[in-house]
Amino acid sequence: MFSGVKPTGHLTLGNYLGAVRRWVEEDQHRGEALFCVVDLHALTMDHDPARVRRLSRQAASLLLASGLDPAVCTVFVQSHVDEHARLSYLLECVASDGEMRRMIQYKEKTAQAVASGQSVRLSLLTYPALMAADILAYDAVEVPVGEDQTQHVELTRDLAERFNHRYGLTFVVPRAINPPVAARVMDLQNPGSKMGKSHDATAGIVYLLDEPDVIVRKVKRAVTDSGAGVTYDRAGRPGLANLLEILAACTGKKPAALADAYAGAGALKADTADAVIELLRPLRARHAELSADPAQLDAILREGAARARSIARPVVDRAYRAIGLLPPA
Ligand code: TRP
Repeated sequence: MFSGVKPTGHLTLGNYLGAVRRWVEEDQHRGEALFCVVDLHALTMDHDPARVRRLSRQAASLLLASGLDPAVCTVFVQSHVDEHARLSYLLECVASDGEMRRMIQYKEKTAQAVASGQSVRLSLLTYPALMAADILAYDAVEVPVGEDQTQHVELTRDLAERFNHRYGLTFVVPRAINPPVAARVMDLQNPGSKMGKSHDATAGIVYLLDEPDVIVRKVKRAVTDSGAGVTYDRAGRPGLANLLEILAACTGKKPAALADAYAGAGALKADTADAVIELLRPLRARHAELSADPAQLDAILREGAARARSIARPVVDRAYRAIGLLPPA
């Protein structure tokens, strides 16, 4: 299996509970698993080179600190392995302009860029071809992603099938696996939208590296309705439901059972903040250790890239031959 993290923002509690924790507890142990900091994907919108560099290191370090074990799985940086860009071009020759323009994320981000007076980078349009290359270069069968990425994985399937049909059986056709809905963490200030790392307003976002006092403050200020008591009602009381789900995810209890234990939002917030701080404590400590020893992180990423390359190279070579390119003598 293959999954990727885009270094466009600091990793959040939403990333951890929604994805990374499952990668650590389950996915890394199921056969050959690759986890990639997809830095090339961070260049499709206006970007600051120093920030991308910093966030890429930090994302890699946080994945390891969360418990991805380089002895068990492969953790690496996309741009360290040429095969991604190499295969992406072939997939651009299989994809159509129309299907790329139909991608929801492309439409949304184009609108966003236009609204803020930026020009739209061509790579924003071709991004799904690169993402498909990330997946297909490793013969990945399963791609654990959030719902917002399902359409891109569907496109990846279409491209793989089309390539196989036109040029002969070359790629494994992958499928998206979505995390269970219970692990969907919403923005504390805006419980109608996902806690995402690339948002501008940060008051409702808990970052994995937030100091404990910052976590307390953000959770205390979480938006809840003014109704009496605490009940678990996602549609009617989304703010409370979000806190209950976060607490449930931290403690292994059920949100509805937790709701019964609280008379008001204040105590629920206090306990949720504590639980989050405890959950993140070991992760923060391991991250601090890794940050103090940059050579260790470099070595892990170097080995990860070598391992990734050794898997991807023959797959991409196979695709180059199948599509009609002359093998080098
Ligand atoms: N597009 C994904 C995101 O924005 C990141 C990503 C890039 C990815 N390549 C991938 C995810 C391959 C899974 C597999 O979150």
